[in-house]
Amino acid sequence: MPDTAVIEQEALARIRASEDAAALEALRVEYLGKQGSISALMKTLGAMTPEERQQKAPAIQQLRGSVADAIAARKAAFDSAALEERLASETLDLTLPAPATARGSVHPVSQVMDELSEIFADLGFAVATGPEIEDDWYNFTALNMPESHPARAMHDTFYFPDPAPKGGRMLLRTHTSPVQVRTMLADGAPLRIIAPGRVYRSDSDATHTPMFHQIEGLVIDRDIHLGHLKWTLETFLKAFFETEDIVLRLRPSYFPFTEPSVEVDVGFEIVDGKRVLGGSGDAPGHGWMELLGSGMVNRRVIEMSGLDPDEWQGFAFGVGVDRLAMLKYGMDDLRAFFDGDVRWLQHYGFSAFDQPTLSAGVGARA
Ligand code: DAH
Repeated sequence: MPDTAVIEQEALARIRASEDAAALEALRVEYLGKQGSISALMKTLGAMTPEERQQKAPAIQQLRGSVADAIAARKAAFDSAALEERLASETLDLTLPAPATARGSVHPVSQVMDELSEIFADLGFAVATGPEIEDDWYNFTALNMPESHPARAMHDTFYFPDPAPKGGRMLLRTHTSPVQVRTMLADGAPLRIIAPGRVYRSDSDATHTPMFHQIEGLVIDRDIHLGHLKWTLETFLKAFFETEDIVLRLRPSYFPFTEPSVEVDVGFEIVDGKRVLGGSGDAPGHGWMELLGSGMVNRRVIEMSGLDPDEWQGFAFGVGVDRLAMLKYGMDDLRAFFDGDVRWLQHYGFSAFDQPTLSAGVGARA
């Protein structure tokens, strides 16, 4: 039987002399590991008679405890030294700027739709939506453009092979006007809505893209007349362009879904080669720019939308959102709106944080 006191002395000396955590771990394995020498001594206890065990066990257990304690103490010393060293070598410079992260921006079309929703919300208009894949009946027939109506030619669009439930074929809506019919059918009268959204035509050149954005306006009530239309348009355009100097010219026009129909022009002035809104278009150096279509809702449309045209009248208007954005923010190429060029967006885009909008919190958008 080896002398446990001698083993202990030697082990403690070696543990004290160990220089790093790896050397210490090697000692732990040598003494206390599964095949370790002290573990082997422990195993001999099992083969002893009870008397012998009673006599020898305390010394062996004392040896194991003392070696285990010494290893744990030495390990704690190594750990705290390592921590000290890390704390001394690592410095945290709180004055360093955080690394830049890519930040998205709000597309001008979304921004303008938000602005318009906000302006019209102030005038008591709700936001209505309709599907972009539309039924021929809502897009044309119910708007007083029956099959073979010549006005359909100006609305050449993309058709689906699927037959539409109400006749004709399904198509990509050519304007937001079908939302007028859908809303009257769903909600009845009176109502005041705007319907912003995407519309489609098979057209593509410098001033036309196959997909673009419109905002439709509709007011249905008793005793509505053109004066209400003019005031509403003037109020909205002054708020949108943030100037009192907006002069409108209402020209007789034709749309199948309005009677009478008016084309609305706005006066502008050429400043440094650019069109700047303001003043009468008839003044020297000025001109008129076509801005939007509108009129009193045709009684046939009111009828097809399930209302009695002798009781309910209203006005409607439709305007290109992309066009409004270009005018307000001085952008000159419509196609750039849909190129997805990040540089263009960084130049013209809006920060979601700098410009919180009321409607972003209020409204549904198409
Ligand atoms: N839907 C027409 C278009 O896309 C625009 C329009 C004109 C809408 C007159 C209206 C309106 O509501 O009254 O060309």
